[in-house]
Amino acid sequence: MAQPLILISHDAEQMSQEAANQLTQLAQQQVRTSGRFSAALAGGSTPKRLYELLASEPYRSRIPWQSVYLFWGDERCVPPDHPESNFRMAHEALLSSVPIPQTNIHRILVDWADPEHAASLYEQTLREFFRLSAGAWPEFDLMLLGLGEEGHIASLFPHSPALRESHRFAVATTGGRPNLPRVTLTLPVFNRARNLLWLVAGPGKASIVRAVLERGDRPEEVPAGRVTSASGATFWFLDRAAASLLRKDQVRAGGSA
Ligand code: 6PG
Repeated sequence: MAQPLILISHDAEQMSQEAANQLTQLAQQQVRTSGRFSAALAGGSTPKRLYELLASEPYRSRIPWQSVYLFWGDERCVPPDHPESNFRMAHEALLSSVPIPQTNIHRILVDWADPEHAASLYEQTLREFFRLSAGAWPEFDLMLLGLGEEGHIASLFPHSPALRESHRFAVATTGGRPNLPRVTLTLPVFNRARNLLWLVAGPGKASIVRAVLERGDRPEEVPAGRVTSASGATFWFLDRAAASLLRKDQVRAGGSA
């Protein structure tokens, strides 16, 4: 497993710019080599600025939107225009302002079905998009990840039975803030991504960032500690506050990743 690349920015704005540069580069490379770029977006509040940047110059013109296919790592079970919808946030900050074909956008259809059914519909969507035969798993070119203060990623919360899922791509779950029914991708999907891009900011995340990156005694106790891309690349984009408890020799400050 390759060492994660950890890049610390002065503040959340610079961190979002560094992540936008990296994402743009990955999209260009992937489209050049395979003709398309598949990415799963993260929810929560941290990626909003990244999405806004991607929708503005110079990123907007550099990203080959016609060949970009977007999915989500998780969704709260609310309508797509609800204030708590991860899709709504991405739509307002990004999708409404870029020339991506509507057919390339694969939101989790949590408003059409009960959460369990929504999870299996989403799995079916992934199966078709990645043309998977039985037993095969999706391999996203990029998965964006946020980090909860207690170590959750997407909607995989500590002690949740969803963490033990080893067959399904997506499952129904509940919890988080806001505490809602949710649909989330499962660990085997995250762990097969070609690129994992973490985006974490703020002092409230400093101790969980250290726990995850230093792989303490029992990393499996926090869901984030169980995310490891076996063959892909892992990028951690942090602001100074979130990185404040890391050892100096672990990190590279400033510059581009
Ligand atoms: C969700 C998220 C969740 C989020 C983290 C970080 O739907 O709630 O996908 O996993 O990424 O909670 O959220 P913030 O960026 O708001 O801190």
